[in-house]
Amino acid sequence: MSSIPAVPVFTAATAPGALPVLGHGLRLLRGPVGFLSSLHEHGDLVAVRLGPTTAQVPCHPALLAQVLEDDRLFDKGGVFYDRARDVAGNGLVTCPHRDHRRQRRLVQSAFRRPQLAHHAGAVRAEVDAAAADWRPGLVVDAFPLFYGIALRTLARTLYSTAIDAELATGVERAFDTVLNGLFRQMFLPAPVRRLPLPANLRYRRALAYLHAATRQLVAAHRSGEAGGDGDLLSALLAAADEDEGGAGGAGLSDAEVHDQVVTLLAAGTETVAATLTWTLWRLSLHPAAAEQVRAELDAVLPHGRAPRPEDLPRLAAVDRVVSETLRLHPPGWLFTRITTAPTELAGRPLPTGSTLVFSPAAVSRHPAAHRSPAVFDPDRWRPERVTPAARQGFLPFGTGARKCVGDLFARAECTLVLAALLSRWRLVPEPGADLRPVPLATVLRPRRLRLRLRLVER
Ligand code: HEM
Repeated sequence: MSSIPAVPVFTAATAPGALPVLGHGLRLLRGPVGFLSSLHEHGDLVAVRLGPTTAQVPCHPALLAQVLEDDRLFDKGGVFYDRARDVAGNGLVTCPHRDHRRQRRLVQSAFRRPQLAHHAGAVRAEVDAAAADWRPGLVVDAFPLFYGIALRTLARTLYSTAIDAELATGVERAFDTVLNGLFRQMFLPAPVRRLPLPANLRYRRALAYLHAATRQLVAAHRSGEAGGDGDLLSALLAAADEDEGGAGGAGLSDAEVHDQVVTLLAAGTETVAATLTWTLWRLSLHPAAAEQVRAELDAVLPHGRAPRPEDLPRLAAVDRVVSETLRLHPPGWLFTRITTAPTELAGRPLPTGSTLVFSPAAVSRHPAAHRSPAVFDPDRWRPERVTPAARQGFLPFGTGARKCVGDLFARAECTLVLAALLSRWRLVPEPGADLRPVPLATVLRPRRLRLRLRLVER
């Protein structure tokens, strides 16, 4: 008997129900995750029409992994990345394959142990600041709370110290406009995007503010007015190509540093805030998972002691809850690729310039990856239960060379924030929560989730 696993034969299909002109655009806008996760019922690679563009959606986790692992053939590009470049320029998320390896090496060198330790300190300072005036009975709005913590944590990680409060608020507002306008801009034809409509003007003004604020932050750091040892921006500025002779070699230019800073702020804040928001909602619905977390926190953080990075390996139940939340509610829900040469996928010929659309949310609920894929079950991530198929279908951070560079930071941050808050507080959803995702937001997040604070009883 052969031990070589069978290579799946993938099928290609076309999604039914395209409307004239709009194609499947309306269905994608109305219920993006439901629509994208239903496509696998038609085939493993499914063609959808988004206005004038036909996009190919890999729905089977193994087929998607095949696409993401060939980042030269399936390069960054297509409607999502064209608009994302407005925000993040040619930074690590948006740059094409030809620029990627060098940028990745340089940026990765700034994501090392000292920066992780620095980041953990920033998480602690920002959670303490956010919760300083909490008292039992107070109601907090989950996403804005976590967005504020995530943005200020990242700013402090980049900078060593907290950035000026007025600047932090300005950047928060500008990102809100830009990230919530990005998908709308993506679906608008170029001539409409150029019209002086109020929404277009707001979008452009917010973009200009973000770029100016970033220039100011980088210049202040370069001139020694801000920053210090171990912060991420110092590490980015010091990063130099090893091929070019280490620290004396070519590093990132000012323009490149600028693009990386905007990229990190855009990629590393709403994503973390959405994960924390969904996690608290899920915990409120699943008492057994909440009980496991409570027991673990009582053991690891007695009397509500603040968590430290060295506690992370002992916070396995919190980590499993974060994994399961990321599986069912991956914040990044739609990404695109463009083919750089003629190829064939699932037996379908694709000419150069074909658009692919993928959604981690769709594959992570695929029956090939999990038993009972719709059920929230953090225990499926216990080491003895995880299967290779489950690992392959777990793509909230993508995979291959373009996999998220901040995945460990993000996971550590979510675990530390949850541990710090839940060891002291119970956060109970208020009636009237609206869990439908905000339409056309860059990350999947609920429309409204307010939480009432209660003290943990000991
Ligand atoms: C829960 C939080 C996060 C999620 C779900 C997430 C998700 C992702 C995904 C899906 C990709 C790949 C996109 C693609 O293949 O088209 C990605 C890439 C990236 N992410 Fe994250 N991310 C998170 C947090 C962060 C954080 C905290 C940072 C940095 C501080 C970050 C920085 C980046 C960067 C720079 C890339 C591009 C990597 C490359 O192309 O080499 N992300 N992220």
